[in-house]
Amino acid sequence: MRLTILGGGGFRVPLVYRALLDDHAEGRVTHVTLHDLDAGRLAAIARVLKEQAADVPDAPEVTVTTDLETALTKADFVFSAVRVRGLEGRATDERVALDEGVLGQETVGAGGISYGLRTIPVMTRVARRVAELAPEAWVINFTNPAGMVTEAMAAHLGDRVIGICDSPVGLGRRVAGALGVDPSEARLDYAGLNHLGWLRGLHVGGRDQLPRLFEDERALASFEEGRLFGTDWLRSLGAIPNEYLHYYYFNRETVGAARTAAKTRGAFLLDQQRGFYDRLAADLDGSAFAAWDRTRLEREETYMAENREAVDAGERDSCDLQSGGYEQVALSLMRAIARDERTTLILNVRNRGVLGVLDADAIVEVPCHVDANGPRPLATDPLTGHAAGLVCAVKAVERDVIAAAAGGSRTLAVRALATHPLVDSVNVARRLFEGYQQRIPDLAYLR
Ligand code: G6P
Ligand code: MN
Repeated sequence: MRLTILGGGGFRVPLVYRALLDDHAEGRVTHVTLHDLDAGRLAAIARVLKEQAADVPDAPEVTVTTDLETALTKADFVFSAVRVRGLEGRATDERVALDEGVLGQETVGAGGISYGLRTIPVMTRVARRVAELAPEAWVINFTNPAGMVTEAMAAHLGDRVIGICDSPVGLGRRVAGALGVDPSEARLDYAGLNHLGWLRGLHVGGRDQLPRLFEDERALASFEEGRLFGTDWLRSLGAIPNEYLHYYYFNRETVGAARTAAKTRGAFLLDQQRGFYDRLAADLDGSAFAAWDRTRLEREETYMAENREAVDAGERDSCDLQSGGYEQVALSLMRAIARDERTTLILNVRNRGVLGVLDADAIVEVPCHVDANGPRPLATDPLTGHAAGLVCAVKAVERDVIAAAAGGSRTLAVRALATHPLVDSVNVARRLFEGYQQRIPDLAYLR
């Protein structure tokens, strides 16, 4: 089996490769093709992978290329994890928004819209190329903002593109841990959009265990979401929100913390990653893997640091620093499809009536049954109240972004910004658009 990774010079590629190295079963991935526009980054990551493979006799063979056609031809699976305009773009998304007093996060709010507006045209071209060159391939999309990017790609690839995210798995694992149950025994009742979902139940042996968690103050306060959102708020909601909902429920505090931080998340990672890739290019003898792993740990430790700081939530738990979710979802998904290993995973797929508040083609993030035929979303309880409202509002924004990208429409881009629940004025939206267009040349196509 051949796996192609777009954004193959990206920092998280060794996580995926690590998961592949642990798979020795028949039908496993035997060839990995890394594609990237930047040959220097490709070389750095290839070095890390080489060290990872050193003691593994059946390690998948790795090739690198900067040519998209070569990369896609003969691929069985295509992972997409690209970042258009890199971390510099991410830092600009944040800065322009924060200067207007609104959130600039890469997937939520104005920042996510700017990022989507420059990413969707690129990923639409990729989707077309996959449809031409590898029509049988399955595309697993990590590229953020993953919900809207997957929806834009689905117009060309149908159900052959599947969006993934590690945050629902992490949430499920933490809640199962707080309840003292085995995560593999738990059925998660989770629904929403990417980075906008709620865990409404966690069932073991047919019984929902969440009510027990709400009654146990100490257990409820013991994990990341309990500390971020506070136990009272979780009880009021009667559900555990995805960590990204912190930007909505505590918007003023999170924007405040981001504005006063010495560096935005994007600016911090830009420096950190630059340091890593430069060091590797300069030092051809040291261990590339050790340098990568140190950098990875520092990245994990500082993940969502501003959010925790905004509400005094303290440090991350050591068990949340191990990574694992990201590559495990990807690998389980590939195994389920390629070897018909039936399983249930939370994925970003077309709704098909599962969430009644959205139409059939909307990409939603819900538990899916997966087998050789691909994923099929499972019937679930409806979204109600403010969750239903928020999901509909944000889906409308995503659709405006997709339509703006497809038609080069400035009007729709401004409408997307103005109608986002975290942008508080049409005038702010207009200024945001101007600011983004001035600083990000990729947005010149919007007229
Ligand atoms: C989580 C999200 C991903 C996102 C990543 C960002 O894993 O689910 O969608 O890419 O965090 O983390 P970063 O370290 O880049 O802030
Ligand atoms: Mn994600």
